[in-house]
Amino acid sequence: MPITAHPAFNKACSYLKIKLRRIPLNPQTHEVDLTKMRRAITKNTCLLVASAPCFPHGAIDPIEDIAKLAVQYNVPLHVDACLGGFLIAFMERAGFPLKPFDFRVEGVTSISCDTHKYGFAPKGTSVILYRNENLRQHQFFALADWPGGIYGSPSIAGSRSGYLIACCWATLMTYGMEGYVETTRKIVQTARAIAQGWSEIDGLYLLHQPDVCVVAISSDKFNIYYLFDALHAKGWHLIGLQNPPGVHIAVTQIHTQEGVVEQLLEDTRQCVTEILQSNNKKDTVTAVIYGTNQKVPDKSLICDMTKLYISTWYDTNLDTSKDQNVPHVEMTAE
Ligand SMILES: Cc1ncc(COP(=O)(O)O)c(C=O)c1O
Repeated sequence: MPITAHPAFNKACSYLKIKLRRIPLNPQTHEVDLTKMRRAITKNTCLLVASAPCFPHGAIDPIEDIAKLAVQYNVPLHVDACLGGFLIAFMERAGFPLKPFDFRVEGVTSISCDTHKYGFAPKGTSVILYRNENLRQHQFFALADWPGGIYGSPSIAGSRSGYLIACCWATLMTYGMEGYVETTRKIVQTARAIAQGWSEIDGLYLLHQPDVCVVAISSDKFNIYYLFDALHAKGWHLIGLQNPPGVHIAVTQIHTQEGVVEQLLEDTRQCVTEILQSNNKKDTVTAVIYGTNQKVPDKSLICDMTKLYISTWYDTNLDTSKDQNVPHVEMTAE
């Protein structure tokens, strides 16, 4: 899979003991290096992955090209449309045509799509689509001789909430085709306006032309994490990227409201001016964290610290009121 594919794949491979090969991007095109991807395929390869779009830079992988490899080497191809599935499906109708990314492309065998992102449904109902029933059959599990009766289960998660599924269905019906086309139009327009505005600010450049809803930038004039922290202080909660360093915004309905883009661009211009005037010498929290991360050659240390941090969410013995150094974190789904 391209290195930009979501860590959910690393996690699945870790659970299932599957060796994962991450293919770097071509530094010129910022697309996955197809020659390297081809070379990574062996007789043991069980799946290729493409994102539509990927989380870090918002780029849609060259799905038709990757699908050609899938067909040539007879390997299934999964398209991860978790992030933008409920946008890319409506982009053509919204006036932003895309290259084919789905089962129209020979070689694409499965697609995942998050209903809770641009489908606006509650979390816990995302879907996976298969090209045919044969493939889907492998997901189903059945046990005939259990004393509790004949057991059958369609998904990795066992018990699932009918309440959430009903809420998801209600959301889909409420928005309907017209609703999703309209939200897609506004979100993609907004993403492009932000990209245009950011790319006009001296010192900033786009990591990729936004294909869908994510706009990612970096800087050749200052440490981009300074901008991350400066915008955070103004109330903009963006995402910090690494390898290469960057910052992105995933545009949602909130950003499509009147005046929001203008405010973001104005705040960005102000922050960039201040950073350049401060002579690029601010020690901000995010710059220090990512700077330290880069200096630690053994990344397992960072992973251990991350796991330790997660365990504090569950540790009921911690009295955080007494110890100011223990971070209090709201548990999130991601
Ligand atoms: C591109 C992409 N793929 C997959 C996922 C889903 O990961 P998970 O199933 O672990 O929530 C996300 C969630 O943010 C995503 O952005």
